[in-house]
Amino acid sequence: MDAQNVISSETRSSYDRIYEIKAFDEGKLGVKGLIDAGIQKIPSMFVRPLEDRVKDFDTCSENISVPIINFADLGEKNDRIAEISKEIIMASNEWGFFQVINHGIPNELLEKMIKRTQMFHEQDAESKKKFYTRDFHSKSVYFTSNHDLYKSKAASWKDILYINARNTDGEIDHEELPPVCKDVILEYIDRILMLGDRILMIISFGLGLEPDCLGNMAKGTKSWAIANNYYPACPQPGLTLGTAAHVDTSFITILLQDNIGGLQVLHDNKWVNIEPVTGGLIVNFGSILQMITNDIIKGACHRVIAKSVGPRISIAFFFSGVMTSEKIHGPIKELISKEKTPIYRKFSIEEVMKNLFSNSLDVVGANLDYFKIHHMGDDK
Ligand code: OGA
Ligand code: NI
Repeated sequence: MDAQNVISSETRSSYDRIYEIKAFDEGKLGVKGLIDAGIQKIPSMFVRPLEDRVKDFDTCSENISVPIINFADLGEKNDRIAEISKEIIMASNEWGFFQVINHGIPNELLEKMIKRTQMFHEQDAESKKKFYTRDFHSKSVYFTSNHDLYKSKAASWKDILYINARNTDGEIDHEELPPVCKDVILEYIDRILMLGDRILMIISFGLGLEPDCLGNMAKGTKSWAIANNYYPACPQPGLTLGTAAHVDTSFITILLQDNIGGLQVLHDNKWVNIEPVTGGLIVNFGSILQMITNDIIKGACHRVIAKSVGPRISIAFFFSGVMTSEKIHGPIKELISKEKTPIYRKFSIEEVMKNLFSNSLDVVGANLDYFKIHHMGDDK
């Protein structure tokens, strides 16, 4: 092909791609809408570029997994907090992830949360369409697919019911919540906020900080967002992903997954499956916690593969700090010293979120690089 032809075919394919994306967006029914319309092949907007698929990291075949931490071992009065906090900090360094069992949230509530999330996504099209938007700032409850639809190289095979209380200091108008899942979501939020506070308290202890130090920064019970994810079965799972590789923009994220599987964490340059554990919850560390602990706690890159079975349901609860707050964060002063100088500059949560929403999700660690202090003589 001569140069002229190459250019025109590229222009043509990017035009087609935008056209396809727009039609998908205007349909307001997400990925499930495509399946319901009977498609047998995935539209090209979901196909990852060949070079990304071939240079993908291997999936680990050994039987290794992220640590499982049993909160029953904390003892009634948290007598074993020193040991458990050590386990959590080690988990952060080795994996950026752990699973927690005996966390106090009844399995029935977890199951109900999964069921109701599924019911939201599987309700009639007209009811669901009303929640669809691409305006992620003025609404706190909405249905969408691919926050980075117009920015990513390939769209992900997933729909989301998103509840964002970051702009409103943790308050949401209950009337905005979808009727099919409202009561269960409200109960779930209460329980997860308490568990998140507890985990942040244990991490604070492990870092030698005041017990409420991290909880106060994350505004514990006051600021969060939930992604209620729906991954339809995919006719060509090898060509796309359920969620592109990324590091969460959060202090911590507490994730509930059903028993289908598909979540993977990048560990020693290999993807390792995070297997479903009945009654368990997954905890992962996000870029905000990594920055304020000056890299003592590490976030991890993770993704979800697409599968031919489904739907897969997961609920990601992000503890992400208050957007409206003027508060400026940065590496915590107790954690820096002459030897351990700040790796990151100061930032507001608003700045962090702006950075997240202006990038494609798979710009892995975008936050971390953006806020890193680059010294003279560094490569960048
Ligand atoms: C996320 C995420 C994983 C999953 O929403 O940030 O990583 O299992 N989700 O859905
Ligand atoms: Ni994530």
